[in-house]
Amino acid sequence: MKGVVFTEFLTMVEEQFSAEMVEELIAACELRSGGAYTSIGTYDHHELVALVVALSGRTGAAVPALVHAFGRHLCQHFTATYPGFFSAAADTLAFLERVEDHVHIEVRKLYPDAELPSFACRRLDGDTLEMVYRSHRGFSDLACGLIEACAEHYGEVVTIAMDDLSEGTKTQVRFVVHRAARPAS
Ligand code: HEM
Repeated sequence: MKGVVFTEFLTMVEEQFSAEMVEELIAACELRSGGAYTSIGTYDHHELVALVVALSGRTGAAVPALVHAFGRHLCQHFTATYPGFFSAAADTLAFLERVEDHVHIEVRKLYPDAELPSFACRRLDGDTLEMVYRSHRGFSDLACGLIEACAEHYGEVVTIAMDDLSEGTKTQVRFVVHRAARPAS
């Protein structure tokens, strides 16, 4: 997993908890990388899982809730770092449809060793998008946080239904994103 994911995770921990918490997690997890992540480096995604589990143990927050919160944080980082990806789409559902065929394709050009999920998208109607997430890393809670924060970026209200098709491993999850309200124009 790319270092940017780790550096942003630790930034979120520092913002929402403290710099001491970051130090504590790194010390507690005995990471092979030593916790010295650079944004262009590539690291074992199990290190991220270990950091989240350690944070959960120290804060009492559930692991899925922390991964979801991290998805929201990551989306805010992406809107600031890659505004062009967002301005290229008029609304949430149009943006989400572009993640598989445009956004992550560009990410792979920047980082050829990126480990990306796949999303199979299908419009159920004008305001409803089905996205089937597949990744052996099982970060569907991250995807859910990303989707939620994307909608906020576009000023839209959406409901997100999540259905795990992989018996709790979260490696194959069906999302149905329904736009309940568009921004007032
Ligand atoms: C401008 C927007 C986006 C950018 C620049 C971006 C970029 C990235 C990058 C750099 C990674 C890490 C790859 C690696 O670690 O090797 C990643 C992973 C991921 N992305 Fe995106 N992404 C964007 C939008 C989204 C959206 C909207 C979703 C959800 C619908 C999404 C879902 C994921 C998930 C779940 C992963 C974790 C890897 C996995 O599950 O296997 N991304 N993305």
